[in-house]
Amino acid sequence: MNTVRMVENLNNRAMGAAEQIAAFKTNVLQNVLSCRMFTTNYPLLIDHILREAKFYLRMLRKLQGREEFDIAREVAYQETFWNRIMAEHSKFIRGLLDPTEVKLFDTANNFGERFDELTEEARKLFINMGLLPLVTDRSLKNTVGIRDFKKQGTEGLIQCNIKSIAFPLLGDHVVREANHYIRVLKRFKQYNMK
Ligand SMILES: [Fe+2]
Repeated sequence: MNTVRMVENLNNRAMGAAEQIAAFKTNVLQNVLSCRMFTTNYPLLIDHILREAKFYLRMLRKLQGREEFDIAREVAYQETFWNRIMAEHSKFIRGLLDPTEVKLFDTANNFGERFDELTEEARKLFINMGLLPLVTDRSLKNTVGIRDFKKQGTEGLIQCNIKSIAFPLLGDHVVREANHYIRVLKRFKQYNMK
């Protein structure tokens, strides 16, 4: 089997699995929102991971369909998606800290506000694409900032220096998502300079 066929096969199986997990998350979210199910997770967290599954599915479908797309619009779409994800991470961190962790709470809150603004800026690119390089730069700068904050936070949890109800693994997970977004943004930056 050649590489193209192997990737195609892997993508097909990933699509099947992603569809199933998206259906499961949809079901959990509906049950939680109608108070038929209780969890200590925020409903927004369930909605967040459902959107991530759908985002992944969308990418796989585009790849499998050999779809051509308008790169500038795709960059704007992905920056809107990921800036919102980063804003929500900030708010989850804010909400999982012990109430005595005032400084960390404020930092998380500030990142939440910043990324809400960046989400709006990215959304507005669909009206004015000229601002794309600026939004990419700002998004990159702030994502490096939040990645470092998340990294320190995760280390603080592991070393038991931070009071929180968050698992260190959740901290590590959001660090990895920020790292993924940084990698993507660097590619977008190369595209913007062309
Ligand atoms: Fe996430």
